[in-house]
Amino acid sequence: MLYERSVQCVEAEIDFVDATYRGLRGRNARLLREDFCGTANTSCEWVRRRRTNGALAVDLDPEPLGWCRDHHLPELTPGARRRIELRQADVRKVRGAAPDIVLAMNFSYYIFKDRRALGGYFRSVRRSLAEGGVFFLDGYGGYDAFRVLEEATDHGDFTYVWDQASYNAVTGEMQCYIHFRFPDRSRLQQAFGYHWRLWTLKEILELLDEAGFSRVTTYFQGWDDDSGEADGHWTAGDRVDADAGWLVHLSAEK
Ligand SMILES: C[S@@+](CC[C@H](N)C(=O)[O-])C[C@H]1O[C@@H](n2cnc3c(N)ncnc32)[C@H](O)[C@@H]1O
Repeated sequence: MLYERSVQCVEAEIDFVDATYRGLRGRNARLLREDFCGTANTSCEWVRRRRTNGALAVDLDPEPLGWCRDHHLPELTPGARRRIELRQADVRKVRGAAPDIVLAMNFSYYIFKDRRALGGYFRSVRRSLAEGGVFFLDGYGGYDAFRVLEEATDHGDFTYVWDQASYNAVTGEMQCYIHFRFPDRSRLQQAFGYHWRLWTLKEILELLDEAGFSRVTTYFQGWDDDSGEADGHWTAGDRVDADAGWLVHLSAEK
């Protein structure tokens, strides 16, 4: 799937979450809830990692969940398949066993467009976590984040295009698209569209604090001078340079 190949790196995502939880709690997490799971690729990676891991993957849309059922679940061992549940639900209304980890990656929570909506979601996550549970999420920023621009990444057999089509500073809302271009010059325009609020990191931190999380940590990547790109190693830090673009991971502890 083009989206999974361009946008996600579930192995790296789970490496970070697994090691950071262990660092914070001194033991392995077991039950992980993946919010806004789409095709639940990350949950599949979680249940593959250890026999004690279980996952609940939540999305409102039955279509990506169906795709997961048809394409990802058959690739799991029968044992791993039994430890994953796909649930069509609103992430704010999930009931059941309390997870050690709740994961909201790829900025999906930016669809909550005002403080009341995002704060409500953060409070519901905190309530649903097990004692000592950790909420992991990501964010992005930098001065390019607010600009109208297109950014193309070559993946060999296709080009991924991230299109920041419009931004309204009054509402803080932004329209973005993902397009794909192919070597035969054909295109898949607006394969995915996102209408969301461009939250700043400080706003996110304030809302997590107001939601009652006891400790929130930000993690940033190092820089690899040879490749001229971020090096994929996330370390805790409370400063980020005023660069054009950066990514952040956050852990928020119950
Ligand atoms: C951009 S996709 C994220 C896919 C995947 N998590 C990733 O990391 O790439 C966002 C998903 O959020 C889902 N979604 C939006 N609002 C939701 C809500 N309130 N509850 C559950 N899922 C929601 C959409 O159906 C969509 O599949």
